[in-house]
Amino acid sequence: MFVDMHHHLIYGIDDGAKDFEGTKKMIAQAVENQVHTIITTPHITPGQEPFPYETYKAHLEETRKYLEENKIDLTLYTGCEVLYTPSTPYFLSEGKVFTLANTNHVLVEFMPDDEYADLLKAGRSVAEMGYVPVYAHVERYDCLKKPEQLRRLRREFDALIQVNASTVIDKHGFFRQRYLNRIFEEELVDFVSSDSHDLPGRDSHMAEAFDELTVRFGIDLAHALTHGNAEKILRVI
Ligand SMILES: [Fe+2]
Repeated sequence: MFVDMHHHLIYGIDDGAKDFEGTKKMIAQAVENQVHTIITTPHITPGQEPFPYETYKAHLEETRKYLEENKIDLTLYTGCEVLYTPSTPYFLSEGKVFTLANTNHVLVEFMPDDEYADLLKAGRSVAEMGYVPVYAHVERYDCLKKPEQLRRLRREFDALIQVNASTVIDKHGFFRQRYLNRIFEEELVDFVSSDSHDLPGRDSHMAEAFDELTVRFGIDLAHALTHGNAEKILRVI
């Protein structure tokens, strides 16, 4: 039922699954959460850490083979979560950044202390290169605490916005939940995704988040955020 477009499933690449057993556990958990499609998004940090392109492709193929052999109904796509650094435009121009499922959408993350002006500049530069920037886990950034700031990203260069499923179900942060209520109610978010890493720890939570979204914002928005909007992007492949 769900499409998870932010997931560190492929082992041995980043701080996601450590080994193939870890990948298998994450697959089991995704299936349990009714996820039928994952865009795998390992971290790429241009100019900082070299990215193991060949290992990623090999481990992705190994994982697809495992799914096929075990008749597991889960489709995997390539992708990445690229950190915006001064080298990111060069990496994009050289085709060294995996877009989301080979579309023109790029999942971008930032350093926690980056400022709003940096996020604007980054989005503009990604858009000028012909890509749609998808801002990963926007709830993490202090500089994006006003809904108008998200609205401006969307208005100026058609940016899309992602929030983590674990944040949706986190009942502890009153201010964060108040912020989420506003940005969901104003329809400033496009995707709720797991951002799953190695287990146990950063689990899927997609089914739980769907239930929570349904109660708080209605079933139509819950559907859109957990698969409908992602399916629209995937349809153009
Ligand atoms: Fe991530």
